Amino acid sequence: MNVSLLVPDRAETGDREEFERAVVAGLARTPRAIPPKFLYDARGSELFDAICELPEYYLTRTETGILTECTAELARLAGPGCTLIEFGSGSSVKTRLLLDAMPDLAAYVPIDISRQHLDATAARLRRDYPRLRVEPVCADYMALDALPVDLNGGDVNGVPRLGFFPGSTIGNLEPEEATSFLRRARTLLGDRGALVLGVDLKKDPQRLHDAYNDSAGVTAAFTLNLLRRMNRELGATFDLTGFAHDAGYDPVEGRIEIYFRSLRPQTVTVAGRAFTFAEGERVHTEYSYKYDDAGIAALARSAGFTIDRTWTDPARLFAVVYLEAAP
Ligand code: AVJ
Repeated sequence: MNVSLLVPDRAETGDREEFERAVVAGLARTPRAIPPKFLYDARGSELFDAICELPEYYLTRTETGILTECTAELARLAGPGCTLIEFGSGSSVKTRLLLDAMPDLAAYVPIDISRQHLDATAARLRRDYPRLRVEPVCADYMALDALPVDLNGGDVNGVPRLGFFPGSTIGNLEPEEATSFLRRARTLLGDRGALVLGVDLKKDPQRLHDAYNDSAGVTAAFTLNLLRRMNRELGATFDLTGFAHDAGYDPVEGRIEIYFRSLRPQTVTVAGRAFTFAEGERVHTEYSYKYDDAGIAALARSAGFTIDRTWTDPARLFAVVYLEAAP
């Protein structure tokens, strides 16, 4: 029997209330915005997996290619016997590249907000890596200051810790949030810690635009799934044909900006409150920041890390960086 199924955690308790609070607050403010983490309900996670397979969405396959090439060197840099900690592990697909290159890990700690994802992934990893100690943590990694598992009696410096934050998820964060997340990670990883970070790079704006406006409409479905989720979980009355996905690159800010846009004047009820939308009015759902070498260096420095190594693909679309805790 799986004990974790009996323990109510945030996935079953706080989730709906937190979603409702965030949506009501986000629609009441100007400009309107809903945090990106709410895009990932079960259907949203499926759609994101489909995004990763799109011809236009080069990020996932490029990062996987880089990791395939660099894991041996990465394992050398990390040294034997460290603890691998992944922030937002999802289905841990890319992690397997690291696990294969690091057969003597002390433990693997996947951190994810979805209990179901976490338990299913942990079970598969234990089956495929029978000698690996897997210690899943169900939490919002953005709000985690210490690990609620017993690793070395809580001594963060007992065994070196290697963090893993792939996928350019860091791009969802505004620069100040990115710095504060990396500072927390620096604390959690300890003085002997290191972090493997995946970052999408600045490039031809058309290429960036296409990656978030795919011809099959999967990214649009991913954005509009948030409306579907509000309808289902919050009793909202969004007409899905009355809104459109809206994504564009702002070269000054160096970011993709994603919204859903009202196609006509309309009023929608959410959690018993009425919200009026003008034609063309947008609700922000995501940023996806793109970095260059200088930006990555500034980010690392601001959070107490130094860059030890940077790997990129030949076209320099994406970077994997190895950060070490600065003394
Ligand atoms: C998961 C944040 C890395 O910004 O590329 C992809 C999310 N949104 N297409 C990204 C996303 C629409 C993705 N990250």
